[in-house]
Amino acid sequence: MRIGFAGLGVMGYPMAGHLAAAGHHVVVYNRTTAVAKRWIEDHKGSLAATPMALGNAAECVLLCVGDDDDVRQVVTGEHGLLKSMARGSVIVDHTTTSAVVARELSAACQASGVGFVDAPVSGGQAGAENGQLTVMCGGAVADYQQALPAIECYAKMVRRLGDVGCGQLTKMVNQICLAGMIQGLAEGLHFAEQNGLDASAVIDVIGKGAAQSWQMDNRASTMIAGDYDFGFAVDWMRKDLKHALNQARESGASVPVAALVDQFYADVQAMGGNRWDTSSLLQRLRGSRGRS
Ligand SMILES: NC(=O)c1ccc[n+]([C@@H]2O[C@H](COP(=O)([O-])OP(=O)(O)OC[C@H]3O[C@@H](n4cnc5c(N)ncnc54)[C@H](OP(=O)(O)O)[C@@H]3O)[C@@H](O)[C@H]2O)c1
Repeated sequence: MRIGFAGLGVMGYPMAGHLAAAGHHVVVYNRTTAVAKRWIEDHKGSLAATPMALGNAAECVLLCVGDDDDVRQVVTGEHGLLKSMARGSVIVDHTTTSAVVARELSAACQASGVGFVDAPVSGGQAGAENGQLTVMCGGAVADYQQALPAIECYAKMVRRLGDVGCGQLTKMVNQICLAGMIQGLAEGLHFAEQNGLDASAVIDVIGKGAAQSWQMDNRASTMIAGDYDFGFAVDWMRKDLKHALNQARESGASVPVAALVDQFYADVQAMGGNRWDTSSLLQRLRGSRGRS
């Protein structure tokens, strides 16, 4: 399969690298060309100057860009993928977006005889680098099956959850669960500190009990150290929660904790934490103290 990848950011760069490591010839496009050139030095493959050129060179194109309008630009823009992709080819979007844009772009693809799978990911930078991502897919069964061999190159779990849009809806569930969990961990650590406990020792103990979580295992020590300059950026989390809260309003789902935590992230942004990891909710409780 001739594979194309668009968007060589924190996630896309290593994801495309796993495709090359699996033996595929990968054609890459990145808005900032210098990054694509660096990727080719690292992994071989070849360069496409525009999404249109990428679509011309590949029968399966995967992308991981920013938000709804970025995906629109890459897929249906003036020099977009649909200007050149052949009938019977497939587009896989790993960007976290609204379900609305997934359905809109799927319809545009269908009119050109191109398949579309929305396939947001979870597992962060480390998951992308280690090829251990969880991939949540929505789309027609045939399109999903066509894309699966490529996705499996960097996934530890991949599943089709339903028609187009269901991947994004599942990712919203993920982010709703995450928001409450991170705030809970931040409050627990803050409480421990305010009461003179050794927070690391507390985590050592309660991490073996019912309060254990991925966040506790992977973020508690950096939170205690006040280190947030890595990981999943607060700006991205607010984008994801915006989509989840819009969808909740539309569907009548009640998600008050997610809505509250979204406002807490707005406070973190006001503290200058736009690019801090989402675990920086603790910093909001500490105020100016404890930042390394
Ligand atoms: N980082 C994480 O831990 C994580 C985890 C799960 C999901 N995600 C999601 O994955 C997506 C990408 O995240 P990331 O952390 O990899 O972001 P990132 O490092 O900022 O990379 C974004 C990539 O998209 C490209 N891009 C953005 N807008 C574009 C446009 N309009 N046209 C063409 N290319 C465009 C950027 O090109 P340039 O090089 O020119 O800027 C860059 O290659 C986001 O939707 C994010 O929510 C991220």
